Amino acid sequence: MRHLTAIADLRDEDIGAILDLADRLYTQPERRYPVLTGRTIANVFFEPSTRTRVSFELAARRLGADNVAVAGATSSTVKGETLLDTVKNLAAMKVAGFVVRTSTSGAAAQVARAVDAVGLPVINAGDGLHEHPTQALLDAGTIRRHKRRIAGLTVVIVGDLTHSRVARSNIALLSRLGAKVRVVAPRTLMPVDIEALGCDAYTDLDRALEGAEVIMMLRLQQERLEKQPLLPSLREFSQRYGLDDRRLARLPADVLVMHPGPINRGVELRSSVADDKRAVILDQVTYGVACRMAVLCHAFGTTVPVASA
Ligand code: CP
Repeated sequence: MRHLTAIADLRDEDIGAILDLADRLYTQPERRYPVLTGRTIANVFFEPSTRTRVSFELAARRLGADNVAVAGATSSTVKGETLLDTVKNLAAMKVAGFVVRTSTSGAAAQVARAVDAVGLPVINAGDGLHEHPTQALLDAGTIRRHKRRIAGLTVVIVGDLTHSRVARSNIALLSRLGAKVRVVAPRTLMPVDIEALGCDAYTDLDRALEGAEVIMMLRLQQERLEKQPLLPSLREFSQRYGLDDRRLARLPADVLVMHPGPINRGVELRSSVADDKRAVILDQVTYGVACRMAVLCHAFGTTVPVASA
C-alpha cells in the first residue's frame, strides 16, 4: 500500500517502474488484467473533472476493480460533513483505496494521514494549487514515447503558473528526470519562488521558445481568476502568451505541443494549433489510462504480466 500525494512520494525506481509498465499497457489498451479483482476504489472528486476521473475509472475496471464515485455536490459534505469524515466513512464500508480531487492544497496528504492506520492507499488526483502527480507522470511518459528520452530535453511550460498544480508536479518530475525546464508567464501569474522548484523563469514567450523541444501549454484557470483578477485582459494574454500559427511556424517540425486539458481554444492555444499534427494532446489522454493503471498497480503493490508489443 503506497500513497501518491506528490511527486516527492516516489523513489526514482518507482517512477521508472510506473512509466515502463504504462508504456507496455499503452500498446494493448483494450486488454483486461484482473489483478485488483475483489477491491473497490473510491473516486472522491470534489472538483469537476473529465479526463482524470474517467481515466481512473477505466483504469480500475481494466484491472478488475470496482469503482464507487463520490461527488462533492451530491455528498453529505453539502450538509457540513468534512472531507476527512467522508473518507473515514468510506473506509468503514471497506473500500480498498481512494483517488481524491479537492480544491484544498494539501488535502490529499491529510486524507492519506487519516486512513494510514487502516492501510488504504490514497492517490492525489489534483489538490488545489499544490500537485497533480498522475498528470505529470502521464506527461513524462508521453514525452518519452515521442522523444525516446527526457534527460537533456528543453521543456517550456507556458501560462497560468500561479494556479497550476500540473506545472508544479511537472517541474518536480521533469527536472528530476534531467529535462531543462523553463516556465513562462506574465509577472502576475508567476509565483515568486518558482525557480527554487528546479526551472528557469521567463516573461517573454518568444525568448523562452528558442530551442524548445517540448511545449506544455497550461489552461488559463478563469474560474480562479474571477475571484482574484490578475490579468488586464484576456486578449492581451492570448496575444503575448498564446501559442498561435505564427509562433508554431518558427518551431521545429518535431516539437511536441502538449496541454493537460481542458483547453480554452482561442486563449492559450489557437484551435488550429490544438489540432496540428505536432499536438499530442489526445495521445496524453490515451496514455493517461495506461499510466493510471500503472499507478494503481504501484499503490496496491502489484503489477501485471504484460509484455512489450
Ligand atoms: N488534466 C485534467 O486534470 O483534466 P480534468 O480536470 O478533466 O481531469
